[in-house]
Amino acid sequence: MAGAEVRQKSSARQTAGLAQHWMPFTANRDFKAEPKIITRGEGVYFWNDAGEKLLDGVSGLFTTPAGHGRREIAEAVHRQLLELDYAPSFMRGHPKSFELAARVAELAPPGLDRIFFANSGSEAVDTAMKMCLAYHRARGEAQRTLFVSRERAYHGVNFGGVALSGMAKNRQTFSAGAPGVVHMRHTLLPESRFTRGQPDQGVALADDLERIAATFGGDSIAAVFVEPIAGSTGVLVPPKGYLDRLREICDHYGILLVFDEVICGFGRTGKAFAAQSFGVTPDLMTMAKAITNGAQPMGAIAAHRRVHDTIVDAAAAGGVEFFHGYTFSAHPAACAAALAALDIYRDEALFERAAQMSAYFLDSIFALADLPVVTDIRGYGMLAGIDLAPDRQPGQRGHEVQKRLFDAGLHLKVTGDALMLAPPFVVAGQHIDEMCDILRRTLSSYS
Ligand SMILES: Cc1ncc(COP(=O)(O)O)c(C=O)c1O
Repeated sequence: MAGAEVRQKSSARQTAGLAQHWMPFTANRDFKAEPKIITRGEGVYFWNDAGEKLLDGVSGLFTTPAGHGRREIAEAVHRQLLELDYAPSFMRGHPKSFELAARVAELAPPGLDRIFFANSGSEAVDTAMKMCLAYHRARGEAQRTLFVSRERAYHGVNFGGVALSGMAKNRQTFSAGAPGVVHMRHTLLPESRFTRGQPDQGVALADDLERIAATFGGDSIAAVFVEPIAGSTGVLVPPKGYLDRLREICDHYGILLVFDEVICGFGRTGKAFAAQSFGVTPDLMTMAKAITNGAQPMGAIAAHRRVHDTIVDAAAAGGVEFFHGYTFSAHPAACAAALAALDIYRDEALFERAAQMSAYFLDSIFALADLPVVTDIRGYGMLAGIDLAPDRQPGQRGHEVQKRLFDAGLHLKVTGDALMLAPPFVVAGQHIDEMCDILRRTLSSYS
């Protein structure tokens, strides 16, 4: 059967559920007119419902650096569900959550060795915000309620994270009543276009934090949240010295520094965390996505021991110290998946592999700079962003290109008119060549 015919039959089979499933961050009407259904994944490939193979250019959704269909993870989850399918996480524990906490702490920068589990990046962010407030309250500084983040930031979709985010569409319907947040400027400067790695210009943008402290009072600020590399709005790599400067200002005013490592964590920058790649240690780190190689939902927060101890020690003996948690915090199946994923990352030296593959990957992506429709390229580690010249409406071209690339055999992430690539670390040079060929062929038709 020809691909299109198979797809039509399979789409007809899906029709019943198509209407009922209100899909997240999706142009539902558009999708349902022309569904893009993924039915299988293995290694660096997906297959669609017509049985056609697609390269996975963004590791699912930055989730799957070890490639799809990893048996070790599937088997670990299977075994776990048969042995203990669920255990409550309030006032009860199960062995794998403690084992996993120790393994995550081992990977995190020194001191960030108290690990709290959630089920997504959004939950991790909101949890971290609460930790910051609880920390200051425990120290007698309950007046520190203001958060600082950045334009173009993405910190998930729960109310705290939406307030932190700097993306208009994510905020405009929802932000009323959200916690007080002041935004620093983003770090994407016109003079840094087509910079590979960290731009030379822009360290002074960190002084926005100084200005905010001068305006609102340094002692009113609880924490600064930044993605070390802002991922979702097109891969904005921090200018040289920028994160160090934020750290200095935070230290000066007693403000907590939080790195949202939901995209950067687990090897994307060539080290376990971007904090290590950039040599700046935050007070808390959020993570999710690749912690289980995408095989189970999970988020986590690595808190500095000082933050943890301050909150825990301030509570009355025998009482709950932090009134927060989820029914599925540290779900046994997610813990089993994460432990199996961390074993793969270690045994296959995948973070090191990401560091090694980065040069070839970035060379290949930056070679697309000659295409007339490409207005900027940025990249670091195994993460790259390509800006396209907008069409009549911002985002229209990105949306169309994303569909055309899928049909041409490449899955990637698009926000507005920015394309994002984050291939699995198990890619070979030949896969990167294929991705770039598809990109060149598709983008060549735009001027
Ligand atoms: C930096 C960052 N924080 C938080 C999130 C939210 O994660 P989730 O979609 O798992 O809630 C994302 C998702 O892409 C992210 O990139």
